[in-house]
Amino acid sequence: MAERGLLKIVNVVGGRPNFPKIAPILEAMAEVPTVTALLVHTGQHYDHEMSRIFFEDLKIPEPDFFLGVGSGSHAQQTARVMVEFEKVLEKERPDLVVVVGDVNSTMACALTAKKLCIPVAHVEAGLRSRDWTMPEEINRIVTDTISDLLFTPSRDADQNLLQEGVSPQKIHFVGNVMIDSLLTYLPKTQERDTLERFGVAPGNYATMTLHRPSNVDNRRVLAGIIDAISDFSRTQRILWPVHPRARKMLEELKLSHMLNEANGLKLIDPLGYLDMLALNRSARLILTDSGGLQEEATVLGVPCVTLRDNTERPITVEAGANRLAGNDPDRIRSAFSSALNGNGRKIRIPELWDGKAAERIVDVLSRLSQ
Ligand code: UD1
Repeated sequence: MAERGLLKIVNVVGGRPNFPKIAPILEAMAEVPTVTALLVHTGQHYDHEMSRIFFEDLKIPEPDFFLGVGSGSHAQQTARVMVEFEKVLEKERPDLVVVVGDVNSTMACALTAKKLCIPVAHVEAGLRSRDWTMPEEINRIVTDTISDLLFTPSRDADQNLLQEGVSPQKIHFVGNVMIDSLLTYLPKTQERDTLERFGVAPGNYATMTLHRPSNVDNRRVLAGIIDAISDFSRTQRILWPVHPRARKMLEELKLSHMLNEANGLKLIDPLGYLDMLALNRSARLILTDSGGLQEEATVLGVPCVTLRDNTERPITVEAGANRLAGNDPDRIRSAFSSALNGNGRKIRIPELWDGKAAERIVDVLSRLSQ
C-alpha cells in the first residue's frame, strides 16, 4: 500500500465487452474517497462503434492512458499491450490492477502487473468453457491462475476455481457486473427510437451477432451458418450488426453473395450499447456466439440460441434462457424452432445478478486499505 488508508487502482479496458463491465466499477470506486482510480484503455478495439460510443453511452470517464495497440496476431497484440502497459505501471506504481473479462488485453495486463509484483484483481473470474481452442479460455485460465483476488459472477465459477486448487480466501462471489450496466440503462432504452430506425416492432424480429474465429474464419462453417440463418430469415426478420471480423471474413471467404438469398436478414453496422440493448430487450429471439449476450438475454427474458458447442456460462442454460446449437446447420435449424416454441421453459434470473455486483467488488477492495 502506497500510504496507509489510500489505495491507487489501475483499471484496464481493451475491447468492446470490457466497457459495460468497467463502467459500474468506476462509478462505485468514485464513491470511495480513499480510492484513486485510474483507467487504461489498451486500444485493442479502436473503431468509433467498437469503443468510443460505449464511453459515451455508459458515461465512462476519459482514459488516463490510451495505449493504442490496435489489431494484430495474438502474439503481436499481447506483446504490444505488455510493453506499453509496463510503462504505465512503472510510472504510476499502483497498489492494485483490476482487469475484467477474457480478452487479450485482460491477460496481457494481468501478466505485466504480476511480473512487477503488483497485485491483480480479476472481475468475471472462474468461467470455463473447457474449450482450449478458444483464445478466451487461455486468457481466462492464465489470468485466474496469477490473480490475487477473483471476483466471480456465479457459483459454478467458484467451483471451477476451487477444483483448480485456488485458495477459497481469494474467491469472492459478487454476481454479474455486466448486469449492473444492463439494469442501470434498461429504462433509458425506452426513450430511444432504435426500433423505428430499423423498421421493426417489439417481438417481430430476432437479433444476431457472430464473431468467434471458430464460426467466422472457416468457409464451410460460416457458409453453413448463413445457410441456416437464410432459411430462418424467410419467416423471421433478423437484424445482424456485423462485427468487423465477420465483415472482413464474409468478403475474404467470398460468401457475401449468400446473403442475397436471405430476404428477412438485414446487415447493419455494429451498434453502441444503448441501441443494442434497446433491440435485444424487444427481440423475439437472440442468436449469438457472444458470451455477454447469453447473459443479457437471460436477464431480459429473451430466448437465446448460442452458435457454439460449449459455453463458459452454463448458468444461462440452467436458467432456461439459452440453448447451445453449435454450428451445424441442421442443429441450428432445430434450435430455432424449439427456442421459438419455448417448450414451456421459464427463465430464472441467476443469484446476485441484481445490479449491485460493482458495489460488492469495491466493498472488498476498499477493505484492502484498512
Ligand atoms: C475480441 C476478443 C473477444 C471478444 C471480442 C468482442 C480476444 C482474443 N478476443 O475479439 O473475446 O468477444 O473482441 O468484440 O481478445 N477490428 C476492427 N476494428 C476494431 C477492432 C477490431 O476493424 O475496432 C477488426 C480487425 O480486423 C481485427 C479483427 O477485427 O483484426 C479482430 O479484432 P481482435 O480484437 O483481434 O479480436 P475480436 O475478434 O474483436
